[in-house]
Amino acid sequence: MKKRVLSGIRATGRLHLGNYLGAIKGMIELQNNPGYETFYMVADAHTITTPFSVNELRQNRREIIIDYLAAGLDPKKSTLFIQSQVSEHFELAFYFSSVETISRMMHLPTYKEKVKQYPNNNTMALLNYPILMAADILLYKAHLVPVGIDQEPHLEITREIARKMNQIYGTSFPEPKRFATKGEYIPSLTGEGKMSKSIEGSYINLNDSIDEIRKKIRAVPTATVSGGPIIGGIKTLFMLAEIFLKENFYKEFKEKYHNQTLKFIELKDALTDAIYQELKPFQERRKQIAADLNYIEKVIKEGSQKAKTVSQKTLGEVKHALGLN
Ligand code: TRP
Repeated sequence: MKKRVLSGIRATGRLHLGNYLGAIKGMIELQNNPGYETFYMVADAHTITTPFSVNELRQNRREIIIDYLAAGLDPKKSTLFIQSQVSEHFELAFYFSSVETISRMMHLPTYKEKVKQYPNNNTMALLNYPILMAADILLYKAHLVPVGIDQEPHLEITREIARKMNQIYGTSFPEPKRFATKGEYIPSLTGEGKMSKSIEGSYINLNDSIDEIRKKIRAVPTATVSGGPIIGGIKTLFMLAEIFLKENFYKEFKEKYHNQTLKFIELKDALTDAIYQELKPFQERRKQIAADLNYIEKVIKEGSQKAKTVSQKTLGEVKHALGLN
């Protein structure tokens, strides 16, 4: 039997370069590996765990499916669906909440960060975020989860829940592992932390024009002269250069930096061109796909039906194990 893969992206705004390199590249790689059966969703219910706009959420759910398709996810190979259309996720999350303690959830670094970011939104939904994510993954008995490294604490919880359920109730959940890609940590354009949708000025959208990319890259903070320690914005530039530039160019820029002969604008403009070259085919495909609403609706409908079939089977097993049917 093929091993399963599940991943998802929250529907907060459109995708950026960090999502693309950190998650989507891995999703595509596994989709094209015949040893795996892949399920990729839009985590729209996770979006409501932090402040959100109803109208934007309604739109973003579909936009992310379009992004998936434009990036190369193929509904003939992968099941593409929207989380909230498969209500089994929420039912399983409730059953799972019976094997996790409140204190364990409260001590997760991801939870603490969000509370700090939104002190007036310390909700039960936020506390339950990792439990719902565990349900997303284990409903499909997935072995691999292509996500960024920041999601590791959530995978830890998922494995813990799988172990507890198996021990206490005799279920047969695998303990899923993270599938890492080379671009799993994409630094912020501000020079601090990672590229994130929730930090203004930190990211490049997959739909940015070359002028927008140039403007953002030129705004990355550097130093007045080259040659110093590679930190902050300079580190961001070199990390992106390593991913996007040809190896000899990357090395040349690095040598110049150490010789104190590098002009940052040259590195920045080379990087702008290279990033745009990578995004251009995506942007062209996206335009075509977005024009075909019937096709998109069909992909979503068929994907959700397929996801539901698999989900109902797992949920039936869990209910039986718990004495609920
Ligand atoms: N928490 C993930 C993120 O912020 C999104 C997500 C929700 C997810 N459910 C998932 C990722 C299940 C992988 C598997 O990136």
